[in-house]
Amino acid sequence: MPFVIAIDGPAASGKGTIARALARHFGFHHLDTGLLYRATGARGGDPVCAARALSPADLARPDLRSAEAGQAASRIAAIPEVRAALVAFQHRFAAQEPGAVLDGRDIGTVICPDAPVKLYVVASDEVRAARRAAELGADPAAMLVQLRDRDRRDSERAAAPLRPADDAVLIDTSDMGIDEAIAAAIAVVDRAR
Ligand code: C5P
Repeated sequence: MPFVIAIDGPAASGKGTIARALARHFGFHHLDTGLLYRATGARGGDPVCAARALSPADLARPDLRSAEAGQAASRIAAIPEVRAALVAFQHRFAAQEPGAVLDGRDIGTVICPDAPVKLYVVASDEVRAARRAAELGADPAAMLVQLRDRDRRDSERAAAPLRPADDAVLIDTSDMGIDEAIAAAIAVVDRAR
């Protein structure tokens, strides 16, 4: 059985950085599931058709990282049929040997509820806005408004809302450097293996 690490949390919490580092450390495959929703939103047109027709080329678009693509993703991600169209791909990805790390909003709760390791990565709103603003060269105050707007939509939607699984381990990266956050995550996985 392949080993699955499920990582969820709000935008810019550090979950992507932790996911990439865990995949490298353990030699696992990594899927940033947010890309699936960003690429679906960026295709335009009917989002359900876009999700069903998603191809590797869509996931390679360089414009997917923008704040606008994040907002568009969060809007189409509330549509149950869009989410349903993306499940099979995520399950196939998670079934790869020797293991996989998936990060997103509903990995521990919906996509991989049986994952032996579930992490829920958080950070204060201000820290997350400052990080994302630095990454994108944007204004931190405007970023704070955008992130809160997106988190609210992701948490309040009926379909697979953002929330920790009951058995998720919480990692708060507000006062942690990158290396410290990665070490904390590796320690959780080591305990479960
Ligand atoms: O993680 P990222 O910021 O790239 O995700 C973009 C948007 O995609 C999120 O705000 C959320 O609405 C949606 N998403 C989701 N479920 C996931 C991953 C992302 O609904 N597993």
